Amino acid sequence: MPEFKTVNQSKIITGDSLDYLKKMPDNSVDLIVTSPPYNVGKEYETQTSLRVYLDKITPMIDEAIRVLKPTGNLAWEVGNYIHNKEVYPLDIYYYDIFKQRGLQLRNRIIWHFGHGLHAKTRFSGRYETILWFTKTDHYTFNLDPVRIQAKYPGKKSYHGKNKGKLSGNPKGKNPEDVWNIVQSDWEREIWDIVNVKSNHVEKTIHPAQFPIELVDRLVLALSNEGDTVLDPFGGVGSTLISAVKNNRIGISIDTVKEYTDVAKERLKALQNGTLKMRPMTKKIYKPKNDKISRVPKEWNGKGVY
Ligand SMILES: C[S@@+](CC[C@H](N)C(=O)[O-])C[C@H]1O[C@@H](n2cnc3c(N)ncnc32)[C@H](O)[C@@H]1O
Repeated sequence: MPEFKTVNQSKIITGDSLDYLKKMPDNSVDLIVTSPPYNVGKEYETQTSLRVYLDKITPMIDEAIRVLKPTGNLAWEVGNYIHNKEVYPLDIYYYDIFKQRGLQLRNRIIWHFGHGLHAKTRFSGRYETILWFTKTDHYTFNLDPVRIQAKYPGKKSYHGKNKGKLSGNPKGKNPEDVWNIVQSDWEREIWDIVNVKSNHVEKTIHPAQFPIELVDRLVLALSNEGDTVLDPFGGVGSTLISAVKNNRIGISIDTVKEYTDVAKERLKALQNGTLKMRPMTKKIYKPKNDKISRVPKEWNGKGVY
């Protein structure tokens, strides 16, 4: 299977992930971040019945779980399968597959975005989900690198022994389980401008690629530097880019050579500093002259952002 080795042992593989995973040792991966095909007839898949589709992916899930370390994390990102205008949320079907294999769900993250097709016979779909599973109770979770700006950093406790003391965390707040990643510029550039491929800074030939900042949040929170991060449906290498950028070892597998070629180009661009990426979302709440929405003096000595 053609394998492209890069910096720090990261690899881009062109081939079937089941074949590749079968050759990987047990307990050798710290984090899996991936989005499988949704069986919706994209250019890289042939649409089948839901049962046939799930039966085809299940052996890959078994292999993915086998290669995951006991301390490992798995983030499985999916949307809906639609048949005869009926909606089948894929996470509902995948949840059972993972649960039957002993994995434990830590979060069902809603990835909300403001763009997409305008439905006429139901409400327009504007989110997908990420099922974050662990193999055991002992798993990596780093909250500090992914904290976001609190809306009211200067809020104080009203009662109890901490009454009058600042109640927030100077490092920011937990980003919660609804992620508004990729906001107005992606929406405007991808959906409203005719030549979509050349406009968003990260957009490539792939019809369903991850924004790198979405993967960044998972990579930073669910793995440590030096860890191995696998994407068995790697597409144009968004997970791999995030892994390498954050000093992890990335392994990206995809059957389509055109995609793995783009992944290689993107990685080269990352290494020579020319890859354009949106920075991680650091949403700043704009206060209306409100004292508690400012960063308190106790934290930064100034009492302003
Ligand atoms: C939803 S896309 C993932 C896109 C990716 N997250 C990115 O940012 O580019 C699913 C990918 O799975 C790939 N794929 C489908 N079946 C595969 C298989 N058996 N082995 C490896 N890749 C596969 C498809 O070619 C497609 O690129």
